[in-house]
Amino acid sequence: MNEEFEQLFAAAQAAQKNSYAPYSRFFVGSALITPEGKIFSGCNVENASYGLTICAERNAIFQMIAAGEREIKSLLVMGSTDRFLPPCGSCRQVIAEFADPGATIYLCNQEGKFEIATVGELLPRHFKLLENSNKK
Ligand code: THU
Repeated sequence: MNEEFEQLFAAAQAAQKNSYAPYSRFFVGSALITPEGKIFSGCNVENASYGLTICAERNAIFQMIAAGEREIKSLLVMGSTDRFLPPCGSCRQVIAEFADPGATIYLCNQEGKFEIATVGELLPRHFKLLENSNKK
């Protein structure tokens, strides 16, 4: 079936196991794949000063950047819920920095069921300063 989805779900699930969420008890995992097939993953990391919390999607994206990559082909987000988890508004803006409007987002639940949306559907007309800000 969808091999890309299977790879991303496995990576996100593994990251979710390391989620640090003692305050919300809402455990999130995310994984992305680059056009060359490299996979990066992340979990949410909360803080006693709540506003310092970082979402799983941004954690995964920042791992990608630190490794020298600059482009998201597809990204998956899943959480400890039956609902298909959509990326939060802040993460949508960060995703849009590094993905084409047609890039795939998998909105996934705990059991591995999902819906697909594009970046452009989730955040149309996103803010940008540079036309090619996702290029090295
Ligand atoms: N969270 C994410 O990791 N990604 C999202 O897109 C939504 C929210 C996390 C942040 C916080 O640790 C917990 O979920 C509850 O908001």
